[in-house]
Amino acid sequence: MKILIDPKGRKYIFKGEDMHTKDGMIKADEINKCEVGGTVKTHLGTEYAVIHPNITDILQKARRGPQAITLKDASLIVGYANLHSGSKVLNSGTGSGIIDIFLAYAVEPEKVISYEIREDFAKIARKNFEKFGIDNVEIKMKNIYEGIDEENLDAIILDLPEPWLVVRFAVEKLKMGGILISFSPSIEQSKKFHDALDINFLQETFECVLRNWDMKVVRPCSRMIAHTGFITVARLISRNKAKSEEIKDMKKSEEIKDMKKSEEIKDMKKSEEIKSDEVNNEVESEEINNEVESEKINN
Ligand SMILES: C[S@@+](CC[C@H](N)C(=O)[O-])C[C@H]1O[C@@H](n2cnc3c(N)ncnc32)[C@H](O)[C@@H]1O
Repeated sequence: MKILIDPKGRKYIFKGEDMHTKDGMIKADEINKCEVGGTVKTHLGTEYAVIHPNITDILQKARRGPQAITLKDASLIVGYANLHSGSKVLNSGTGSGIIDIFLAYAVEPEKVISYEIREDFAKIARKNFEKFGIDNVEIKMKNIYEGIDEENLDAIILDLPEPWLVVRFAVEKLKMGGILISFSPSIEQSKKFHDALDINFLQETFECVLRNWDMKVVRPCSRMIAHTGFITVARLISRNKAKSEEIKDMKKSEEIKDMKKSEEIKDMKKSEEIKSDEVNNEVESEEINNEVESEKINN
């Protein structure tokens, strides 16, 4: 695939047909003949550079169905997932297939497995793969909340409404030390996912705030995408579900002990208060008696 760049830096994808630009027409034959790295001229004489598209071009030019992941988040996910050529990775849901394209580049020649439940979204993703020459993604029409078929995975990537429902499958299907990553737009989703990870994973949650600078005026650009979502990265360190249950039970019995202790303390305080009230009453009544006695003597 080739893209053309005009003198102002605007990008055009070459689709195999004559191109009509602001600077005039370029014949498809001319572009076909031109080597990547060379230039072609419009019929009005303006030069366009011809290069291969890279991942940023793909992201700008891909078709979108559901909310697609951004470059900043996808880049972080690929980095934190520790992916390299040959890594076994599962992604869900496929959506428009944007994160799959990042994953496919990272793990080739290994293929990415991508679970999706909606055929209309899978169709958009397949078109994007075809458009950008990606042939190492397999979309499976499958509900990931019902389980994972693949074994021994290096990483699982989730961009789903209820990622916490996948944790119990991830514990079984990831390699020890494997990475589970979830991207969620809301912090409530991230919190539920965090709680489901329990003691089987080392984990951290963050968001990426990317600010561009306008270098002509040397100050931050006035427009930015402020919030996209939260990323939780979790590394499998045990499959100790039983232990995790034990810890929960221990926590519960400790809580019960603490509650009992605080009840006992309350009771003790109450009985001490009652005692001190009684002492005060005794002192008071003695004082009254003394006063009455002294009045009698005076009279
Ligand atoms: C926000 S989109 C994912 C976008 C994708 N990360 C991308 O970069 O294009 C969420 C997708 O998850 C799919 N989905 C929701 N629940 C699912 C499930 N239980 N199993 C598989 N896919 C699911 C939806 O149909 C939707 O396509």
